[in-house]
Amino acid sequence: MILSGKELAARRKVEMAVQVQELERAYGRVPHLAVILLGDDAGSVSYVTGKARNASEVGIRSTTIRKPSTTSEQELLELLDTLNEDTEVDGILVQLPLPPHIDTDKVISRIRVEKDVDGFHPLNVAALWQNTKGLTPCTPRGIIRLLDEAGVEIAGKRAVVVGRSMIVGLPVSKLLLDRNATVTIAHSKTVDLGAVTREADILVVAIGRPKLITADMVKPGAVVIDVGVTRDANNKLSGDVDFTNVEPLVSVITPVPGGVGPMTICCLLENTIDTFLFTHASL
Ligand code: GUN
Repeated sequence: MILSGKELAARRKVEMAVQVQELERAYGRVPHLAVILLGDDAGSVSYVTGKARNASEVGIRSTTIRKPSTTSEQELLELLDTLNEDTEVDGILVQLPLPPHIDTDKVISRIRVEKDVDGFHPLNVAALWQNTKGLTPCTPRGIIRLLDEAGVEIAGKRAVVVGRSMIVGLPVSKLLLDRNATVTIAHSKTVDLGAVTREADILVVAIGRPKLITADMVKPGAVVIDVGVTRDANNKLSGDVDFTNVEPLVSVITPVPGGVGPMTICCLLENTIDTFLFTHASL
């Protein structure tokens, strides 16, 4: 079974469009997402464009603020202060990576925690690991959605996550743990990675190395979620899993593109609605 994030995201967007209309009727305006992009890296420009397009598809207002890569850290922090104070802005996202002269942790920490649609603010990270209320990172949330959509039982399963980033690896591990999977976190330095991945009923790979996971590294019948997106020499998108050879062996697999990616954006829109509700629905 090839699990299409594109189709699930399209269905969720139809539902969200209705919800956004209801919010506008109830509160007099629609949720508003502000996206900040420094520089003109092609990948980041494409992500940011996709975020704005999807927001408009569901009726969420979005403002993209583009600044040169030479923008100072102080100017970026002041921009965040302005957006933090702006009662018409619900969600704030700073596209990563930032230029090297900027302290990313300092910038993320400056976003008001209630507006942190990425779920990267230290207090949202703490909320995830302490089981308190907060915003959850978009890709991990999208992965759990996909698993639920496919009817994959998570409880009691052995999950292996390859990757330990704050964007995907660590938070998805915690969400799988919360659903009562037994979770192993492997990474690019894991010795004999295949010995670990072959144990997985659910294998999530988020490293960013094309075809890292070959057919011999996968347990037959496993569920495989491919989060890697890299471009090969021909500028073609490639995942971390050797899809052609792995797909016949497994029960469920996500394609690249069209798997996890669309769900990340879908969950970003859900998080934007959540940030709007934080301020409006404290009824
Ligand atoms: N760059 C790559 N993935 C992401 C993401 O999920 N959020 C942000 N802000 N930047 C990214």
